[in-house]
Amino acid sequence: MPADLNPIDKAKFVAARRAVDYVEDGMKLGLGTGSTAAWMVRCLAERMKEERLRVIGVPTSRRTAELAVSLGIPVHTLDEAKWLDLTIDGADEFDGSLNLIKGGGAALLQEKIVATASDQMIVIADAAKEVHQLGAFPLPVEVVPFGWQTTKALIEETLVSLDVFGRDVAIRMNGDKPLVTDEANYILDLQLQRIGNPRQLALVLNQIPGVVENGLFIDICDVVVIGQPDGRVTVRDINTGIVENEQVAFGPTDNIFADGD
Ligand code: 5RP
Repeated sequence: MPADLNPIDKAKFVAARRAVDYVEDGMKLGLGTGSTAAWMVRCLAERMKEERLRVIGVPTSRRTAELAVSLGIPVHTLDEAKWLDLTIDGADEFDGSLNLIKGGGAALLQEKIVATASDQMIVIADAAKEVHQLGAFPLPVEVVPFGWQTTKALIEETLVSLDVFGRDVAIRMNGDKPLVTDEANYILDLQLQRIGNPRQLALVLNQIPGVVENGLFIDICDVVVIGQPDGRVTVRDINTGIVENEQVAFGPTDNIFADGD
């Protein structure tokens, strides 16, 4: 492994590499978004080349689609693939029940649709993403641009009666304009600090007109693969309760480092 890769990237890489072991020939795969998912796409392309694996990928963002295509992974839409065997994606936070906050990369809508249309979802993360209680990471909520300030006010009003600690809501910006998602929506980031009841919050947010989807993934993730910079990984399966500690082997000449971003 190159010495110039920072410890967080090393941890993300080993989690990604371990998760790609779950891929089998012929699978239809959901391809997540973000820096950890990008490592996964590269590891997948390596395995496909080395083992002549045939898989198809359904990307969860334009960014991931471009990366997958550039590495020779066949890309299909979800409507073409219909149902997926496995989705591998990153997360911004996960708790002990493998409930997640996602959307730091503004791709939560496609990510949630794709993960929900999969037999299994594996989250890959460095250890810093594990929390006792969700909420330190601002919760992304995707809203339609029409009347977004009214939607924001309704969300703020709704938060008053919910078990959360902070209530500040901010529109995510891209320079001096609101960031626009792949589905042409905006993102509101909710600074909640502590989410007492993630399931209730997810349901209530989606009742508000103008809200398209929120970044809470409840009962969607099956397995988390947590990487450490020294190559250790912990694989935790929420359905079987099995926790395994392993060491991922990697060589200093790994090709995928040549095109790392
Ligand atoms: C994108 C996401 C990402 O999975 C999440 O932000 C984690 O990103 P990274 O792997 O870069 O830390 O939800 O919408």
